[in-house]
Amino acid sequence: MCGIFGYTGVPTDAASMVFAGLKKLEYRGYDSWGIAVGSEGAVHTARDVGKLSAPPMGLPESGMALGHTRWATTGAVTEGNAHPHGDCSGRLALVHNGIIENYVSLRQGLVARGHTLRSETDSEVAAHLLEEELARMDAEHDVQRPDLPRAHTDGGNGNGAWPYRARLAEALRRVGQQLEGLNALAALDVTSGELAAVKNGSPLIVGIGSGDGNGGTDGAQYLASDMAALLAHTRRLVYVRDGQVVSLRPEGVELFDAETGAPLPLDIEDVQWTPEEAELGAYHHYLEKEIWEQPTLLRRIADEGVDAATELARFLGLQGELHLTGCGTAFHAALTGRYLLALEAGRPSLATYAHEFGPIAASLEPGDAVVAFSQSGETIDVLDAVRAARAHGAALGALVNVPGSTLTREVDLTLMLGAGPERSVLSTKTFTAKLAYLLLAAGALAGEPARHVPTLRAAADDIAALRTDGRLDIVRDVAHHIADREHLFVLGRNVGYPLALEAALKIKEVTYMHAEGFAAGELKHGVIALVEPGTPVFVLTPAGPDEAYMLTTAGEVKARGAYVVGIGPHHHAVYDAHIPVHAEGLAYLLAALPPLQLLAYELALLRGTDPDRPRNLAKSVTVR
Ligand code: AGP
Repeated sequence: MCGIFGYTGVPTDAASMVFAGLKKLEYRGYDSWGIAVGSEGAVHTARDVGKLSAPPMGLPESGMALGHTRWATTGAVTEGNAHPHGDCSGRLALVHNGIIENYVSLRQGLVARGHTLRSETDSEVAAHLLEEELARMDAEHDVQRPDLPRAHTDGGNGNGAWPYRARLAEALRRVGQQLEGLNALAALDVTSGELAAVKNGSPLIVGIGSGDGNGGTDGAQYLASDMAALLAHTRRLVYVRDGQVVSLRPEGVELFDAETGAPLPLDIEDVQWTPEEAELGAYHHYLEKEIWEQPTLLRRIADEGVDAATELARFLGLQGELHLTGCGTAFHAALTGRYLLALEAGRPSLATYAHEFGPIAASLEPGDAVVAFSQSGETIDVLDAVRAARAHGAALGALVNVPGSTLTREVDLTLMLGAGPERSVLSTKTFTAKLAYLLLAAGALAGEPARHVPTLRAAADDIAALRTDGRLDIVRDVAHHIADREHLFVLGRNVGYPLALEAALKIKEVTYMHAEGFAAGELKHGVIALVEPGTPVFVLTPAGPDEAYMLTTAGEVKARGAYVVGIGPHHHAVYDAHIPVHAEGLAYLLAALPPLQLLAYELALLRGTDPDRPRNLAKSVTVR
């Protein structure tokens, strides 16, 4: 969940650089933030509650800094619980992403050994354990190698002693072994000028300053929870894996095995995403930008995606049972996949929330296949689900947006969505990309790989026209009409049902209205009891076999005084408002959601909520 950013390099305004890095990570958590810089043997820290507004003033120039933006798990949202946390010596600063499940007993031990802990967090225990490990190593050193200074820089690896150059990394490695749960820790030590991190769960990426290509650099190294924050500095990245420790110094980066301490080779990857792609450009919010990027994205997938979709189709066509899984918006894509594969290719499958997948995994057998959907590729419930499926011999596939993410390394087949950075907490364009690839794959599974290329193009044209053909004004009028309502419903049928769930989720996430999506058929089995005069009810009414059914449903809620908004090609008297969607057939599936994504955006602006960083949420959920 939280965001970590670190820098070591030539002395500069490291605090502002780390601040800028945290701004790009803020969608990972925005309860509080903090930055520590090392200068003249001391740690200087600035921390505050809430979102990052302005760079901290008064922190000295420095060549090393570490920052954190928090999604609170243990300890209230206070300045005292904000990271970085220090130790008793004042020479360390530590940030943490994850949950230290055994922190209570560790804390009791530290207090008993005389440490003073200043926060309620689990994270702070790691800072004091680090202090102890460094002291223990110094004592060991003084016995074994009194001839060498404690923090010498000649490597030492060759002569059998642990690499004292990466002393902080070694100490952090030992701390990591004492912690239970999924955790990523990063720390700086002002006495040795070292920045180090250990990964077991939450994502960590090293950015290598553009140097000589074998770990040599231009004297700058960066550390971040995801690449979006690194693109402004470098595109040469090292994805730190679970069970690895990394040591960063201006002159270089070293990687070690967290179990043995043995050095590991650096696997530097060049990423294609550009810093500009991650920028707002002419838009006010990332949500707005990413909604309007969908037509271009659909056209690109129509042009270039058939081969990847055909490869996915081969996987989907494997003999055994087929399971689709994900969380939140990604689960809605999985559920849509279930309908599309059945409709288009007669391929049965099951869609299950990843956090509910445990019992399903236990029933899997070799030959069965599981496809995971995840924008970030880091959602812990999804990683748990695929690991459980692997343990039962299932073949694993995934549709992922973030290159190099953990999920891409856990599965047999990865389809990269290629939607570019998705910065708003609300997932929009990657949902559309998942549906586009599912449509192409369903066509390929039915023996016509290009069957839905025109479908994607038609949807792209319909979405693009929204901006200029007056429908955006209709969306805004509807937003104004319902902005003060607290409850609303979205109804869909068959493949329109997961779409209704997704539309309601978008509105829920960013407006804090109680929006519910339902299968229209469930209405008379209870839901209709919630409808009262003025209750907004959105009915997804594509042309074709479901249109009459949906119009009847609209009439039933209208009879209870609902404010009925029709989403479809044809106007009807039962509607109080009609948002036309001209794209027909399965193109409706892709074209009907963007008007509702825009409605969520307009409602957020009217209700004064933050379209990109809604309360209590984070972009990727890396804790259980
Ligand atoms: C969607 O807008 C939300 N941000 C959330 O439901 C999200 O889809 C879910 O957390 C899954 O994330 P993932 O796709 O990165 O795995």
